[in-house]
Amino acid sequence: MLVRSGYSPEGKHVVVCGRSNIVGKPLVAMLMQKKPGANATVTVCHTGTPDLKKFTLQADILVAAMGAPRAITADMVREGCVVIDVGVNRVPDPSSPKGFRLVGDCDFEAIKEKAEAITPVPGGVGPMTVTMLLMNTIEAAERTLV
Ligand SMILES: NC(=O)c1ccc[n+]([C@@H]2O[C@H](COP(=O)([O-])OP(=O)(O)OC[C@H]3O[C@@H](n4cnc5c(N)ncnc54)[C@H](OP(=O)(O)O)[C@@H]3O)[C@@H](O)[C@H]2O)c1
Repeated sequence: MLVRSGYSPEGKHVVVCGRSNIVGKPLVAMLMQKKPGANATVTVCHTGTPDLKKFTLQADILVAAMGAPRAITADMVREGCVVIDVGVNRVPDPSSPKGFRLVGDCDFEAIKEKAEAITPVPGGVGPMTVTMLLMNTIEAAERTLV
């Protein structure tokens, strides 16, 4: 997503908030690879990180993967930062027929005024993940034919 959008992480400081086995850790491993489209300097934050804002403000690229609705606020993001919001969280919304709606880990409306780019929730990382899963499935199927 970063590379295709023209924001290669190469040489950038990427701050990843979240260290889960399915999102944070693999992302960190990918970002720090010594290869084109990666090669970033990576900082990993989690619930044991004192003063999260101190770290998020240093990010050229900020990845929020915490499962904490709107935990990243505009004052935690520096001007011109690129923000990837992985979070998918249900929050109560009486005006919605389902009684809830989906929000990310970032305060999208406020951060979009400061960020160079930010992924929406829903409609950002989620559909990309589905697409990549399908791509991997097709690739795996093709390999069985060789
Ligand atoms: N868009 C997609 O395709 C996609 C795919 C997978 C997941 N998700 C979403 O991504 C989010 C994360 O999923 P996950 O499976 O990685 O969740 P998880 O297993 O609950 O891990 C959350 C991570 O964030 C950290 N964290 C939580 N609250 C924090 C806070 N306030 N400050 C700093 N760090 C905090 C936790 O720290 P500790 O390790 O210290 O507990 C943990 O490392 C969820 O909203 C999930 O729905 C989206």
